[in-house]
Amino acid sequence: MDQNDLKPINDLLPQTQAKKPVDPKEIFNEFLLKKRIFKDKEILSSSFVPDVILHRDEEIQKLSSVLAPSLLLERVSNVLIYGFSGTGKSLVTRYVAHNLASTAMEKEVDVMPLYINCRLENNITEYRLISNLCTIFGIKAPVSGLSVSILYKKLISVIDSKERVVIIILDEIEKLIQHSGDEILYSLLRMNELLKKSKLSIIGISNNTNLKSLLDQRVKSSLSPVEIVFRPYNAVEIADILSIRARDAFFENALGEGVIQKCAALAAQENGDIRKALNLLRVAGEIAQQSGDSMIKEEHLDKANEILEQNITEEMVKSMTKQAKCVLYSLIAASKAKKMGKVYSGEVYEYYFKYADRFGLKKLTFRRVSDLIADMDYNSLIMSKIRSNGRYGRTRELELAFSNTLLLRIENILLSDLNQI
Ligand SMILES: Nc1ncnc2c1ncn2[C@@H]1O[C@H](COP(=O)(O)OP(=O)(O)OP(=O)(O)O)[C@@H](O)[C@H]1O
Ligand SMILES: [Mg+2]
Repeated sequence: MDQNDLKPINDLLPQTQAKKPVDPKEIFNEFLLKKRIFKDKEILSSSFVPDVILHRDEEIQKLSSVLAPSLLLERVSNVLIYGFSGTGKSLVTRYVAHNLASTAMEKEVDVMPLYINCRLENNITEYRLISNLCTIFGIKAPVSGLSVSILYKKLISVIDSKERVVIIILDEIEKLIQHSGDEILYSLLRMNELLKKSKLSIIGISNNTNLKSLLDQRVKSSLSPVEIVFRPYNAVEIADILSIRARDAFFENALGEGVIQKCAALAAQENGDIRKALNLLRVAGEIAQQSGDSMIKEEHLDKANEILEQNITEEMVKSMTKQAKCVLYSLIAASKAKKMGKVYSGEVYEYYFKYADRFGLKKLTFRRVSDLIADMDYNSLIMSKIRSNGRYGRTRELELAFSNTLLLRIENILLSDLNQI
């Protein structure tokens, strides 16, 4: 017998520095030992419905008063709700609608507030929206095939089968109008004339304060809405709202001093956008957690702000047309040739002339390219300054408005999109 046969098996293995095997338990324990930041991250998501709504008493009061007569089965005014993004329009409207529906149930009156988000694909055309309404009222509507007018007829007969008030809430209504025109509003409003027992009103919600200018005169006059404007929250109000959300979202002591205030101040600069403030807090928490810190500090917030700004810029660039992408690519090339110095529209155009060919685009006129440059200026992708150039007239000096790290990423996005056929 070989001596080796008697040795324990481990001794038979090569005695070199064996790499320690990965132990999942160790990873789990380490994770649990790491100071934890989030108690419940969901609470910071913008789809989370908070228990309390602060600083919107006036808006809640106004909307509730407009809708109250529906409880006497009276027709209520149409309403248009405006305000910047993240000012609580959807939250408040749904809250009031929910309370209206439950009061109606208690009092045994038939009031039906129906919430429709026009951003969603399946509500964006008139046919889909009306067939969704049909489904709510138990009418079977095929995905296509019937004419919209038949759907309207079916809808009217079912709605009018009893005395009731229907309130259709069209959230992000500008998406519906942009996509399908305002005729649909007119048709919905015209249903009222055909309803005998029941009544119908519309609440439109939009972050486009110019919404009425998108509407035809005829639609405007039959809508003649009560208008409710949601003013932006100020920094103090944002801090109040955030504090409540943060209390349930984070572990005690996970929030450093001044973090909520700073976050609120940043969001206040963005027209009081609570969604942005919540995102900032969440990303700052994630950064703190990744770096193994037990507390979110102002520096994490700064980093989070940087990341979110970058994401916004990248999204904006991605959503540009191919021509605009080509102009921006040319602008970058022109600035690089001048060591990132200022460039003139004429120089950008020279590059554009070359790149339009390379990327197989039809060449636009200098004027159209200047318009696209003006759009980028408006969207803060570039900064421009008009300079009077003596007897040569006025020229536009252009400069890129993003950091060098972002520049590389933007260039990659542009290149890959422009190379796609
Ligand atoms: N007063 C408030 N109290 C608590 N949370 C709020 C308040 N206002 C807004 N929020 C929260 O902020 C986020 C954004 O609010 P909401 O979705 O209502 O904004 P919006 O005005 O509809 O924005 P958009 O125009 O982009 O649709 C949501 O998570 C909401 O819960
Ligand atoms: Mg909304």
